[in-house]
Order: sequence, then structure tokens, then C-alpha cells
Amino acid sequence: MPYKLLFVCLGNICRSPSAENIMNHLIEQAGLSNSIVCDSAGTSSYHIGSPPDRRMSVAAAKKLGIKLRGQARQFHKSDFQDFDLILAMDRQNYHHILILDPTQHDREKVRLMCGYCSKHTLKEVPDPYYGGPEGFNQVIDLLVDACEGLLQNIISQQLRT
Ligand code: 4NP
Repeated sequence: MPYKLLFVCLGNICRSPSAENIMNHLIEQAGLSNSIVCDSAGTSSYHIGSPPDRRMSVAAAKKLGIKLRGQARQFHKSDFQDFDLILAMDRQNYHHILILDPTQHDREKVRLMCGYCSKHTLKEVPDPYYGGPEGFNQVIDLLVDACEGLLQNIISQQLRT
């Protein structure tokens, strides 16, 4: 069974689809596509069915040369059973996820994405939606750092034979 990751933000059109696509890019480079799988979701219903935000796609193409694929969906409490690790982009996302787990049974599965950063000191991935292009570029930089740390963590903690 592959190790399953779910990235979560508010709208599932900026931060979490970027995290999903960047992580998939690193997983492919590492030859681990059969061992780790990724998905993303939003805590809100605002953009269900929408593709990633164009401004985010421009930043990902410019900085990493990757395309952002995906269609927004809303986080659902069944995701607690379906995924091994749930990565929240900010504290608000983190709390909205845990509200859907009243038993607190799966609390340990939910982590803040920036906890995996080693080069950046920000504790949250800032919401870029109402800002300019520099915010979208910053999201990419933070997510590359966090995804690299997350991949190393999974390789050492979960995929050891
Ligand atoms: P995301 O960004 O949570 O990173 O996808 C946002 C997208 C949409 C909105 C806010 C943040 N919105 O308010 O519609």
C-alpha cells in the first residue's frame, strides 16, 4: 500500500494544489511514484470543481517549470480514514480540519506544512489570494522547502524496509 498524503488549504486552488504538484514532482524525481501518492482539498466549498488559480500556475511554471493539475474539492471527514498524513497550510486550516474529528482520534495525522521547512522560518504558508505576484512566488519557495523536508521524513520514517 502506498503512503497517502493530503494537502489542505482554504480554497484548494492556490496553496494545496501547488503542494500536491510540487510533491509529485519530487516523488517522480526520486523514483517513488509507486510508494507515495498525493491529493489536495480545501476546507471551504468556495471553488469546488475549479482548476488551480492562474496566478499560482504562472508562478509554478516560472519558478519550477511545472504545470499545476487538479480540480478543487472540499475536505471531508472520510479523508481521515483515507490518508496517512494531512498537511495544513496555515493554523486556520489546521483548526477547521480538526473540528471535523470530534473524537480527536486522528489528531496525530494532521500537521502544519511549515513544520517540514528547514530553510524558511515562517510557521504558516500565507494565503496569497488577495495579494500580488510576490505572494504566489513566496508560496512556491516555502512549499519546495517543506516538500523536500517532508519527502526526506517519509523516506526515513515510513519507507524503511
Ligand atoms: P488557497 O487560496 O486557500 O490557497 O486556495 C485561497 C483561494 C480562494 C480564497 C481564499 C484563499 N477565497 O477567499 O475565495
